[in-house]
Amino acid sequence: MASVLSGSMAARPVPGSYGLPVLGALRDRLDYFYFQGQDKYFESRVERHGSTVVRINVPPGPLMAKDPRVVALLDAKSFPVLFDVDKVEKRDVFTGTYVPSASLTGGYRVCAYLDPSEPTHAAVKQLLFSLLLSRKDAVVPTFRSNFSSHFAAAESQLANAGKSDFNKLNDATSFDFICEAYFGVRPSATELGSGGSGRAAKWLFLQLAPLVTLGLPMFIEEPLLHTFHLPSILVSGDYKALYKYFSTAASEALDMAEGLGLSREEACHNLLFATVFNSYGGFKKLFPGILADVSKAGEKLHRRLAAEIRAAVAEAGGEVTVAALEKMELTSSVVWEALRLDPPVKFQYGRAKDDLEIESHDALFAVSKGEMLFGYQPCATKDARVFGATAGEFVGDRFVGDEGRKLLQYVYWSNGRETETPSVGNKQCPGKNLVVLVGRLFLVELFLRYDTFTAEVGKDPLGAKVTLTGVTKATSGPGT
Ligand code: HEM
Repeated sequence: MASVLSGSMAARPVPGSYGLPVLGALRDRLDYFYFQGQDKYFESRVERHGSTVVRINVPPGPLMAKDPRVVALLDAKSFPVLFDVDKVEKRDVFTGTYVPSASLTGGYRVCAYLDPSEPTHAAVKQLLFSLLLSRKDAVVPTFRSNFSSHFAAAESQLANAGKSDFNKLNDATSFDFICEAYFGVRPSATELGSGGSGRAAKWLFLQLAPLVTLGLPMFIEEPLLHTFHLPSILVSGDYKALYKYFSTAASEALDMAEGLGLSREEACHNLLFATVFNSYGGFKKLFPGILADVSKAGEKLHRRLAAEIRAAVAEAGGEVTVAALEKMELTSSVVWEALRLDPPVKFQYGRAKDDLEIESHDALFAVSKGEMLFGYQPCATKDARVFGATAGEFVGDRFVGDEGRKLLQYVYWSNGRETETPSVGNKQCPGKNLVVLVGRLFLVELFLRYDTFTAEVGKDPLGAKVTLTGVTKATSGPGT
């Protein structure tokens, strides 16, 4: 996708309109949540203006967001401007055009809201890199112990009730898994008890409510979720309970933080956010998303995955090792394909640091300093100009082989290309490698245990909702 436009064509104004002040944004919010829905909202504006770079309003709008007007980048070519921190400022844009109250994070602006030019950004991100490195050997065994209990529980639900709510079990499992992997202490075995994931979900909901619909009538949701911030006092008890767990369980990480010049308190709020919002919030969507795609792909893919996984594990002497995971090309491709087709974090924002020229496949656009740039990631990662006629479909082996791997540069789920590396100087997700690793581990656990499975796939406010309806126990290989 080398540039053929810059240098040969004058930049033109970005098409699109914001409509009347306030009323335009309110009307668009209703389109987004109720009349058109998320994908159609963006696709219809691309069609209307014949351009994948277009001016639109984004939710939530009035009264929560000061200014809902953005320049939307809705193709694979223009989108990566959002990764370039020389071109865009990332201060306070994590959730977009509104910022949840800092009282939800102990009064601190945590890492995800910091621009790399703010010194605390590098210190916190370094802390997370050091934490992940120090715990790297704990990930595989902790994942396996937590998720083998998960599937054992699912099997007994299937035996008793004929179905098992995957999301519900996953919430409890993912929360215990990630906390134990990072800090060596299972939250459900502490004072926090089994209620940790529920408390976490409530706290997450308060921050994301402006962007979700629960399927209630709009006259209830509009004033309740999309117009005013819900008061943080509703979850202050939950946050305190979570904080208490972190301040004790994360004591070694907090020692590391002091060595990096952070106070224990600021570090603890940051560790809580990175674990509960970034990691647990991500896994709440990641695992149901992978399971939904693999379920819909059917038994043929299941058999291929099972064969690849069992062969690699057998070759590693029956152990699930990181080296064995690296050999699983199809399994890795399935994880990337799920992340491409339905990226768990769909919105990215950045404010133009200067007057910019932004290139789509077809044109060059002029954007002024200070304007808010916005990317709706599914439009970029399902761009048919890159992924061809099957761009909107799940193709499990899309990233297999040399040709397949070349497409990884267009997988953007981590706020960067899959071929790039997160650093203290950029805003790419520090959990990038961990996420792909646990995605593969999830498939490994599934297909060491089962030859195939069936499920019903629906939707919940955050993503896919999966109910397991049947499993066929493994008949061969290291899983038997
Ligand atoms: C940033 C996605 C898991 C920690 C981000 C961003 C995205 C993302 C899109 C950039 C947001 C923006 O600035 O626009 C995801 C997804 C995950 C996941 C989809 C799981 C499925 C994790 C994990 C960690 C983590 C496991 C644990 C360390 C962070 C942090 C940032 C971040 C701290 C802010 C980075 C910075 O300020 O430079 N993530 N993430 N995330 N993520 Fe992740």
